[in-house]
Amino acid sequence: MKTLNVGMIGAGFMAKAHSLAYTGMPMYFWPAPAKFNKLMIADVTDELAKDAADRLGFEKYTSNWMDIIEDPDIDVVDIVTPNNSHAEIAIAAAKAGKHIISEKPLARDAAESKTMLDAVKENNVKHMVAFNYRRTPAVSLAKKIIEEGKIGKILNFRGTYLQDWSADPNSPLSWRFNKELAGSGALGDIGTHVIDFARYLVGEINEVMATAKTWIPERPKQEGGVDKLGTVKSGANVPKGKVDVDDEIMTMIRFDNGAVGSIEATRNAWGRNNFLTFEIHGEEGSLYFNYERRDELQVCFKNDSDDERGFKTIYTGPPHPYGEGLWPIPALGIGYGDTKIIEIYDFAKALVGNGQVSPNFEDGYQIALISDAILKSSEEDKWIKIK
Ligand SMILES: NC(=O)c1ccc[n+]([C@@H]2O[C@H](COP(=O)([O-])OP(=O)(O)OC[C@H]3O[C@@H](n4cnc5c(N)ncnc54)[C@H](O)[C@@H]3O)[C@@H](O)[C@H]2O)c1
Repeated sequence: MKTLNVGMIGAGFMAKAHSLAYTGMPMYFWPAPAKFNKLMIADVTDELAKDAADRLGFEKYTSNWMDIIEDPDIDVVDIVTPNNSHAEIAIAAAKAGKHIISEKPLARDAAESKTMLDAVKENNVKHMVAFNYRRTPAVSLAKKIIEEGKIGKILNFRGTYLQDWSADPNSPLSWRFNKELAGSGALGDIGTHVIDFARYLVGEINEVMATAKTWIPERPKQEGGVDKLGTVKSGANVPKGKVDVDDEIMTMIRFDNGAVGSIEATRNAWGRNNFLTFEIHGEEGSLYFNYERRDELQVCFKNDSDDERGFKTIYTGPPHPYGEGLWPIPALGIGYGDTKIIEIYDFAKALVGNGQVSPNFEDGYQIALISDAILKSSEEDKWIKIK
């Protein structure tokens, strides 16, 4: 079994999830396609990087991410920095022949995403973009049911990602509210996960009609490089800075295959924590998923008898996708970390095998084209075709 050395760049929220996945994956999926050794981690200061190395189990640390790119022992570069640095890091990593997993959105916009896609193609390295929610077993089960034709031709996709962590005007001005650093707001941060669901489950989107809103135009500034999602208690007395991205997007969509649908994303929906959902209607039945109840897929089939027709709940477990590696009985509970472990499992298979894993930088680029079109549609108040 191969052991691959990982260099991770960024040591915040996602670094924790990815580090857990490298260590946990072989404990779930054994024999593992490969094992990972957490060799080096980078953050913006030695202090942050050293703390992360101690906490997350990396052998070495650095405050200069080029040390990771230049280290001949590193096989895989894992990008978990804010969106403005994904492209520069990925292009350098590809030129150095490293395989790459990058967090989503791939970059700030489609043009920047394209430079990353070109670099991985030119240098023939493996690449993945970390839309992990599609690896929730209930979502993979939905894909399987669709592919088996059990809900027939798809007519409609409705997807939402609703959160409330920034509904309070005193929640801090993190990089997520800055166009230069993030590219877009709720759209890139959470809406892109719904776009990934739509493409994964239904097919390519070719046209959008959208409205974007910024509800809270300025927020209290925070110090330091690490994002803090919580509310600033003394927010009223803290200097404020400008928000220049969307807080909410609402989009109608049209698919190549004739299906229609909608996508909504907001971080200002009080009471909604991680309300990532889809409902799909086909000619033969319907599917419904809500990440807040992520063990469950609700299904309804046209051919159910008249007196039993309605949504019923399947609890995912051993008979379902990835079930062989997860927990021994249904409804023990899938966690966020489990989706990241499954993601690294599929990435590892691609690293030691032939071909690319999905979603990869092609998908990341396509999602960026759709995201750019959503913002353009809102600005111009008309349907925009995806190129
Ligand atoms: N897949 C998901 O569910 C999911 C969830 C959250 C975030 N994300 C994505 O993950 C990425 C990181 O988000 P996060 O929540 O971990 O952010 P974060 O703010 O918690 O952490 C980012 C870290 O990167 C460090 N950093 C910034 N610039 C750097 C540089 N040039 N070199 C080294 N380190 C640098 C920061 O100091 C910080 O420690 C973003 O692209 C975000 O969109 C994905």
